[in-house]
Amino acid sequence: MPDFTSLRTLAEQTAQHAYAPYSNLRVGAALRATSGAVYAGCNVENASYSIGGCAERAAIAAAVQAEGAAFRLAAIAVAAFSDTGTPLPVSPCGACRQALIEFGIEAGVSFRQPDGSWVEVDVDALLPYRFILPAQ
Ligand code: THU
Repeated sequence: MPDFTSLRTLAEQTAQHAYAPYSNLRVGAALRATSGAVYAGCNVENASYSIGGCAERAAIAAAVQAEGAAFRLAAIAVAAFSDTGTPLPVSPCGACRQALIEFGIEAGVSFRQPDGSWVEVDVDALLPYRFILPAQ
């Protein structure tokens, strides 16, 4: 499993930048590309709730903007806080799981469990029976 120490710290720092006035859930994600570079993102909400964006996909967008189509995901940490700064458990939503797998079938993912401990899992384990575009 990759080293998540610095990614967790950056995810926690980036969560402080979240724009989350509707859910009050501040989420940060920090990823390491296989290139070794690190990118981060936070959730950005909108009064039209369904068009808000998740932290994980914001981090992926930053990575693709920097590295182009060659970007591959090695590891990602996700952190969340309440509006008052209490650490909260969060795991990547279904849409983000599909996005993570797109860029790194062997990537590691780390996030807090309800007991406050950090879990480390292979992204592959997070989305069994995932959508794969069928060959025609
Ligand atoms: N959120 C994320 O940023 N990542 C996830 O994987 C789950 C949910 C955000 C979206 C929304 O701004 C808030 O958390 C509540 O759903």
